[in-house]
Amino acid sequence: MANLKTMLCGRELDSPFVLGSGPCGWDAEALAACAKAGCGAVVTKSITISGAVNTTRHMISNGNMSLLNNEGGSDMPMTRWRDYEIKRAKDLGVKTLIASVYGYGGLEETLEVASMAEETGADMIELVNGYTEAADLVELLTAVKKTIKIPIIAKVNGNWKDTEIIARACDEAGADGITAIDSIGPTYRVNIATGRPLIGGNGYGYMTGAPILPIALRYVHDIAINTDKDLIGLGGVTNAEAALEMLMAGATAVGVCTAAIVKGPGVFTELTEKLSALMDQYGYPDIPSVSGLTLRKGGLEEKKPADFGFDAEKCTRCGRCVTACAYRARSLDGQGGMHVDPEQCRVCGLCFGLCPRKAIYIR
Ligand SMILES: Cc1cc2nc3c(=O)[nH]c(=O)nc-3n(C[C@H](O)[C@H](O)[C@H](O)COP(=O)(O)O)c2cc1C
Repeated sequence: MANLKTMLCGRELDSPFVLGSGPCGWDAEALAACAKAGCGAVVTKSITISGAVNTTRHMISNGNMSLLNNEGGSDMPMTRWRDYEIKRAKDLGVKTLIASVYGYGGLEETLEVASMAEETGADMIELVNGYTEAADLVELLTAVKKTIKIPIIAKVNGNWKDTEIIARACDEAGADGITAIDSIGPTYRVNIATGRPLIGGNGYGYMTGAPILPIALRYVHDIAINTDKDLIGLGGVTNAEAALEMLMAGATAVGVCTAAIVKGPGVFTELTEKLSALMDQYGYPDIPSVSGLTLRKGGLEEKKPADFGFDAEKCTRCGRCVTACAYRARSLDGQGGMHVDPEQCRVCGLCFGLCPRKAIYIR
């Protein structure tokens, strides 16, 4: 059995899965349910002094394990986290609790919330600021680092112009870890029955879940190239395969938010079991052996049409590979064979990726 332990800012986590800040971390019981189901660490909903007031319909389904949301931070005031929720979550067995601190209120508020979290027993802080621009994240981090002793993780956002440069600046400013990324947007959907926007407020929603996986992977990869700090890869992980990709792209831990909302805390048990089985299948003994593997391996090797293999036993003759070949390079014959015209084939790779049975493979 693969060993799923990983290190996050000096603490050993039993599993690489980290609950991302969101509704599943809205209170102590919710945090504890995720920890019990197999999260190595849990992040609270983002805390502010007065608590957020949300519009109605601030979280809608975008299909395909995806959501759009314009939810603010925690709707409970900081005093509730101070007097009850953080201690209660620890009492309920949460081993590693990361308090998410919203920097939107400016330096004074950020310092007050961060100090509260440290004094109340949070193990780490995740500092988050700015959906569409990084604003003063690096300045806030520098100031908070001067007064707070527990590790501070900077959360960066894929909507910014220079996300990986800001991640690097956070690293240089003393961040103990980085989380990448946050929701992507703004986006917009319309209710065709009413002609009105689907989501409340100004109709803008930020997209999360499966469709943002490639965006998150790209940032995690680019950030991992430039930092040795622990990196929580967050965005679009809804199954064990995606979690393994996230680790290989450079993450040392894997954040999950949307899948936990849609499927409930039990998703962490499923993800942990399936990741372990997947690593066994590919022969990876532990998290360090997969974390950053893609960075160590480098790019793809060049291939020729003859490098595509075909397994007639697996092929159901669905013809998807033939239809999708814009270059008319593929054809199926009546005897169960598959032919590739090497003059027409550009080795684009689409037929290999589309085949539902993996009957086409690369040698
Ligand atoms: C409904 C909802 C609320 C969220 N609230 C917060 C929040 O309060 N603070 C924060 O840093 N991120 C928040 N996020 C962003 C998530 O932590 C995460 O970065 C994002 O959803 C991408 O991960 P995923 O694809 O696994 O959902 C929220 C996401 C969702 C879906």
